[in-house]
Amino acid sequence: MICLGIEGTAHTVGVGLVDSSGRVLSDASDMFRPPKGGIHPREAANHHAELVSGLIENAVESAGLDYSDIGLVSFSQGPGLGPCLRTVATAARALSISLSIPVIGVNHCVAHVEIGRLGNNARDPLMLYASGGNTQVIAYSKGRYRVFGETMDIGVGNMLDKFGIMAGLGFYAGPRIEELAKNGSVLLELPYSVKGMDVAFSGILTAARHHLSRGVRIEDLCFSLQETVFAMLTEITERALAQAEKNEVVLAGGVARNRRLSGMVRSMASERGASVYEPPFKYLVDNGVMIAWNGLLAYGSGQRMELKDTVVNQRYRTDQVEVTWR
Ligand code: ATP
Ligand code: FE2
Repeated sequence: MICLGIEGTAHTVGVGLVDSSGRVLSDASDMFRPPKGGIHPREAANHHAELVSGLIENAVESAGLDYSDIGLVSFSQGPGLGPCLRTVATAARALSISLSIPVIGVNHCVAHVEIGRLGNNARDPLMLYASGGNTQVIAYSKGRYRVFGETMDIGVGNMLDKFGIMAGLGFYAGPRIEELAKNGSVLLELPYSVKGMDVAFSGILTAARHHLSRGVRIEDLCFSLQETVFAMLTEITERALAQAEKNEVVLAGGVARNRRLSGMVRSMASERGASVYEPPFKYLVDNGVMIAWNGLLAYGSGQRMELKDTVVNQRYRTDQVEVTWR
């Protein structure tokens, strides 16, 4: 079976085509970049609405397929920005009705996690999902992805992006911060906020603002931000590995593109004799492929949705999903 998956929880609208064996047939996406400041949900939704049908057409054409080859459509049902979610849900429903194929909504966070397991030998990993809106340490247990630890305020990526706006680095700032940090050397003081398995980032953002206003070198501030927040993430990952008795780590989410973060997690894991798996870079950030793959997993394990079940859920939590495919 071939599934067409549509992603659109926040800044990126993406369409992916995947078959039941996990082969990727197409991957098309476009990111909304606000002219100034952060994302306005309505503006991002308008961007998705304008582009989604063209992306669907491109994806089907570039895979050399016909619409009649598609057996399932899936979409990101949440969590995310309401207007964006509703836009892609509408596109998915329309496709389902016009092609007379089933539609299935998937959880965006679980999709990030599942694409991290595709194509590698990780059997029962712990997952560090570090993205724009989310920061969670997750492990599978008894039919659910359980959240062992998470951010108590904003996602780590959002914190970096907010800092980027403050420092005039443009949106989104993660990659730029990584570049600048390479030329930093002074470790500036920032709050290290780990409480048990949870982390918090807003105090770090406030402290970073103070450092900025003092006129410190931007390279040193980026370096200090990375060293502090990635050490926090590595610490909770290590604690969860020990507690959940796992010996594999999968990195997921856009912030996992950062080589300093993956380096820290890798050195922690090697000391514990654990393996680390990373999906290809293009599947770490939002994409339609992960939504298509999760749609196939859910559908293949017997999940079905009526149109009335496709209402979006802005606060759809990772641990609300029934993981029937494991
Ligand atoms: P969520 O998955 O929580 O809904 P999202 O969809 O916005 O959030 P992703 O598309 O997975 O998140 O990732 C985007 C985030 O990743 C942005 O915050 C961006 O700054 C960050 N990011 C991308 N590349 C890097 C990098 N090299 N270093 C640090 N952060 C990065
Ligand atoms: Fe995401």
